[in-house]
Amino acid sequence: MTVFTGKNVVVGVCGSIAAFKVAGWVSTLTKMEALVDVAMTPAAERFVTPLTFASLSGRKVYSAMFDGAADGSMAHIDLGREADIFVVAPATADIIAKLAHGMADTLVTTVALVARCPKLLFPAMNVQMFASLPVQENLKKLRESGWTVVAPASGSMACGEVGKGRLVEWQDAQEYLAAALSRQDLAGMRVVVTAGPTREAIDPARFLSNRSSGKMGYALATAAARRGAVVMLISGPSSLPAPPLVTLKRVETAREMHDAVMAESAHAGVIIKAAAVSDYRPENIAPHKVKKENIETEMRLVQNPDILFALGEKKPKGQILVGFAAESRNLEAEGRRKLTKKNLDLICVNDISASDAGFESETNRILLLDRDGGEERLPLISKLETADRILDRVVALRCTP
Ligand code: CTP
Repeated sequence: MTVFTGKNVVVGVCGSIAAFKVAGWVSTLTKMEALVDVAMTPAAERFVTPLTFASLSGRKVYSAMFDGAADGSMAHIDLGREADIFVVAPATADIIAKLAHGMADTLVTTVALVARCPKLLFPAMNVQMFASLPVQENLKKLRESGWTVVAPASGSMACGEVGKGRLVEWQDAQEYLAAALSRQDLAGMRVVVTAGPTREAIDPARFLSNRSSGKMGYALATAAARRGAVVMLISGPSSLPAPPLVTLKRVETAREMHDAVMAESAHAGVIIKAAAVSDYRPENIAPHKVKKENIETEMRLVQNPDILFALGEKKPKGQILVGFAAESRNLEAEGRRKLTKKNLDLICVNDISASDAGFESETNRILLLDRDGGEERLPLISKLETADRILDRVVALRCTP
């Protein structure tokens, strides 16, 4: 199950070389269980054939204004009426001008006038065209009339120029679509999420760390941003790409994470500590690589600050503090002990002895324990679905003083 499951996504494709990339979007949305209807402008058909989109979506592709007239249906009305979300991509200067002025000369512009669902525009064109006054004025008009205009990316263009005008990549685009389809129950809320391991240097070549990949924390940041939160993700070393729509601050050590979290904590409505923080660090960091014959077989360690404990001690009224507990036995008792000791509102207990949950895996099976004695066992689901279930509890806890 994804945010796109069962949703009617209508994609208006226009005449730009970037139309071929939108074929990939349609394919991915279909795999994520969306029902994708494609409406093409005549110019779009010169770049990609309707057959391409029909093969990828498994559905009829609409192009002419009067498609379906013979059987009494009205594509331009039906598509607009039934859409859960309307996406115009790639949006050319021409379609932008037509949409801004309410024209109804093609199927895409007509559907836009009928649709009452969220409408998203993904411009793609030459750098100078995009920067031109008429295009910018038309985009302003569209924003004012409720469209979400997603700025194009910068880079080298098919026309040979370099600058702002490239169609955004799917990884970014999908977050705008997902946000438009998600309930905005964290709208404007400042959410701080920590993720990944921390790394404690022994010498320039070696460190102490743990098996955390960062997947759970990155999923939480993504899910919170989709629900409208203003998200700061503070991450230890992780190979994951920065989630779109999220501010990412990278740190390495537990002390760096401590300082970064503390700097954000006073303004945060929600803090979620999914990071696996190293409890200890070597007392001394050797300035040069220690040769193996000189390595001490016993290493002196000193304790790192417990960031979550410090947050719990000075938690402002109304702030929701969420911790994680990585346990391999006595899950509930250990979870309750940490919930109380660290003054948390919610704790997510991870069974790290299971191979399909916890560190590095794509799925998780979490036990949620809250400050009011509430308990919920989540089934084995993706980390993104787990993140949404955790955020559901956060929203519920915010509503109960
Ligand atoms: N945590 C933290 N700072 C630390 C250690 C842990 O903020 N120095 C946070 C983690 O981000 C997590 C929670 O505390 O949200 C629990 O982490 P866990 O390792 O399970 O617990 P510990 O308190 O370290 O206890 P123990 O290792 O004894 O199980």
